[in-house]
Amino acid sequence: MEYISASSAIDNGPTHPRMLSISPEDLLTFNQTPLFTTHFLQSPTQSNSSIQSNPTIEPATTMSKALYLTQVDGKPGQVYYPLNTQTKPAPTPQGRELLIRMTAAALNHRDVFLRQHLYPGITFDVPLGSDGVGVVVGAGPDVSSPERWHGKRVILNPGLGWKDSPDGPEDPNGYRIMGGTRHYRTGTLQEFLVVDEGEAEEAPEHLSDAEAAAMPLTGLTGWRALVVKGGERNSGKGAAVLLTGIGGGVALMALRFAIARGADVFVTSSSEEKIRRAVELGARGGVSYKEEGWEKKLLAMLPEGKKFDAIIDGAGGDAIEKGVRLLKLGGILSVYGMTVAPKMPFLMQAVMRNIEVRGSTMGSRQEFKEMVEFVRANKIRPVVSRVLQTDLDDIAGLDALFQDMKEGKQFGKLVVEFGKSSESKL
Ligand SMILES: NC(=O)c1ccc[n+]([C@@H]2O[C@H](COP(=O)([O-])OP(=O)(O)OC[C@H]3O[C@@H](n4cnc5c(N)ncnc54)[C@H](OP(=O)(O)O)[C@@H]3O)[C@@H](O)[C@H]2O)c1
Repeated sequence: MEYISASSAIDNGPTHPRMLSISPEDLLTFNQTPLFTTHFLQSPTQSNSSIQSNPTIEPATTMSKALYLTQVDGKPGQVYYPLNTQTKPAPTPQGRELLIRMTAAALNHRDVFLRQHLYPGITFDVPLGSDGVGVVVGAGPDVSSPERWHGKRVILNPGLGWKDSPDGPEDPNGYRIMGGTRHYRTGTLQEFLVVDEGEAEEAPEHLSDAEAAAMPLTGLTGWRALVVKGGERNSGKGAAVLLTGIGGGVALMALRFAIARGADVFVTSSSEEKIRRAVELGARGGVSYKEEGWEKKLLAMLPEGKKFDAIIDGAGGDAIEKGVRLLKLGGILSVYGMTVAPKMPFLMQAVMRNIEVRGSTMGSRQEFKEMVEFVRANKIRPVVSRVLQTDLDDIAGLDALFQDMKEGKQFGKLVVEFGKSSESKL
């Protein structure tokens, strides 16, 4: 159920946001006054050299709100850390960093696990959030071509330490995921953040801000679990693919990818309504996993004698036991999560049927790029369950969004758009 092992992840040490040599107005008028320079965005009345040569100038500071966990007593699994908002100076981009004004961020199940202290590396001084979209408003001195990034809407690769190996993260320090842990000291639930330019991708133009924010983590996880681990033969055109727990963010991204690839997709869910909605999105059919003997009902939906080529599962539990009955000989069970429990038994029947169980995590930087390109080329839209248009200090509203995920009410992603006052449904 955990994305990274606590022992393999590194601690980058604390970060201290620095004073930014611009005023909020400069940022807001960014598009009108294209003074995008390396180091900072500057006021039309200040020259670059005047600021650099006179460090005693005390410029107006742009402040940035961010969402954090509040430390309270409690045991893992029993505690539910409250949220709090803190306002600090926005960071100044250094080296190859881009300064990004975030416009939307999305929740993942890991954010709930963090609040429950069921996730490694939890810390209370790093903003939450692994998914987000924003606009580039500044660049560090070593950014290769700052003008290329000027005003671009970008999404962020949510993990560090994994370049392009098909096997797993190359970095001996392990894979580090953005948001709420000491391993990667930034998160998307904040108004301004800095990331290395190599971690940003231009957001596909056909996506709204909410949809773009919804895509990175679940898109990458769904991509690797379905496309990389499933493989063309078992999850491409004409393959029969089962996606379990279709209400989840990853499962719905996998649904979008599988349908675009021409697979025959079936689903399970706790909810008939979610199955109906999945069918509207192109699934062939589905059953409730709460129903006794659901696997027989599901097999009856396939052509006579046919079984599934691949199951893409984020629940764990009895997935292997069910998989033995549902999968063809040599079928693939691609497991990207264990929402039900962090262990599942492996069975001799699975050995006898040559079932391949493949663990799958998020993915490499290269896979992130490929996923974004596929989304752009196929005009894929992540499914967004609810958008909260609010300010990051609307703790009650944000708590309600978390509650949707905790109770599994969502069908797709739960998104926060910053700085707006009313709530909307997509
Ligand atoms: N390894 C990684 O790198 C990685 C990355 C992302 C996510 N994950 C893990 O993958 C899991 C899903 O993540 P997510 O963000 O998509 O979560 P999510 O949006 O909260 O979705 C969870 C879904 O799990 C389904 N579910 C619950 N109990 C189930 C059961 N007994 N059988 C089948 N499905 C069940 C529910 O589907 P219905 O609503 O349809 O009933 C629910 O919507 C989590 O455990 C998460 O930690 C791992």
